[in-house]
Amino acid sequence: MTNAKKKSGYISARESRRISKKNRKITSAIEKQRNRKNVDPSEYSATMRDSANVVEFDNLHTYFFTDIGTVKAVDGVSFDIPRGKTVGVVGESGCGKSVTSLSLMQLVQRPQGQIVKGSIRFNGEDGVYDIAKTPTQAMQNIRGKQISMIFQEPMTSLNPVFRVGMQVDEVIALHDSTLTPAQVKARTISMLEMVGIANCEGVYRMYPHELSGGMRQRVMIAMALALSPRLIIADEPTTALDVTIQAQILDLLRHLKDKINSSIMLITHDLGVIAEMADYVVVMYSGRVVEKGTVQEVFKTPSHPYTIGLLNSKPVVNRQVERLYSIPGKVPNPINMPDYCYFRDRCELCVAPCAGAYPPDIQLSPTHTVSCYRYADQGKEAADHV
Ligand SMILES: Nc1ncnc2c1ncn2[C@@H]1O[C@H](COP(=O)(O)OP(=O)(O)O)[C@@H](O)[C@H]1O
Ligand code: SF4
Ligand SMILES: [Mg+2]
Repeated sequence: MTNAKKKSGYISARESRRISKKNRKITSAIEKQRNRKNVDPSEYSATMRDSANVVEFDNLHTYFFTDIGTVKAVDGVSFDIPRGKTVGVVGESGCGKSVTSLSLMQLVQRPQGQIVKGSIRFNGEDGVYDIAKTPTQAMQNIRGKQISMIFQEPMTSLNPVFRVGMQVDEVIALHDSTLTPAQVKARTISMLEMVGIANCEGVYRMYPHELSGGMRQRVMIAMALALSPRLIIADEPTTALDVTIQAQILDLLRHLKDKINSSIMLITHDLGVIAEMADYVVVMYSGRVVEKGTVQEVFKTPSHPYTIGLLNSKPVVNRQVERLYSIPGKVPNPINMPDYCYFRDRCELCVAPCAGAYPPDIQLSPTHTVSCYRYADQGKEAADHV
């Protein structure tokens, strides 16, 4: 293969066949392991590092084994979700936010998508699970009931051919078989009321297409909260809605989270939403966490050049600018990641060590870390003080 072809990512049919054969070998071994029946719970039980957390992502690696190569969608992600708190995950499209949350639900597209390394500890009702090792069978007890998900586009998440009420009924009935149909319906109606839907009885009998986008998202929230989960994953929950409805839905989510005392993992590319909703922020770039901290830390003293760029590209009321800042360059090819800082080719603040390996995590405060050589000295000072 010529160098030019190699650079452009071109691969021959023969090469592609070779890759897919190798992929099948890797993925079938992992699938076999996961699909075992009656696995002893000791194989997937774990211990939380801090019992105040509901989830701890620890060096998570989730890859897609495709015919053109391995996509390292999540490549060593670590962060915690404390109980009762909202953690905002932010980063531009394709940086691995959704794949991180789908890994937690074991909903990554299989067999090509697989967790290949690391752990996801989940502090469940009946013990701590390492989701990375939990067999499919045991996930039934977690998904929907203990962790639920609200997606971006409610029209694709609701089934168009069933009435709205029936779909909420199904969620409730599936997890509590002792309820009579009348009790299930009563629960559904009270959930619809709780998410602020007027005329609940009417809406109960409607089809999804008869509702507006905001109403459909409220129904999705009712479904997600029906079983009082410990964690709600909201993946771009308001991106498809207009601004006023967006504010109402966020308000609702915040209010209900406090009511049932759960945590939220809020995924968005919108820093405004994070500022309003989150207690902690995790900034992702090309499958890795480049900065994390409390909302105050990240907004007041953004440290990674990527976070600084993101904040500069956000419009601010009362600040006159000719043009909004845009971060130059583009993200690296996920199949062929560089062995140096992934942001280097776009970074305007490089220092000499940036020519070396990927930067380590540097602790700026007990809750604030950044992965960037600019803070190497501060990290040393912080380490000396410990
Ligand atoms: N089913 C899939 N097959 C191959 N690659 C995928 C698949 N799903 C996601 N990816 C890749 O994983 C990376 C992260 O995607 P994603 O988590 O969806 O990003 P986002 O941050 O926008 O939510 C992207 O490079 C995407 O192309
Ligand atoms: S490590 Fe260097 S290249 Fe990477 S973000 Fe920091 S300053 Fe920029
Ligand atoms: Mg996404």
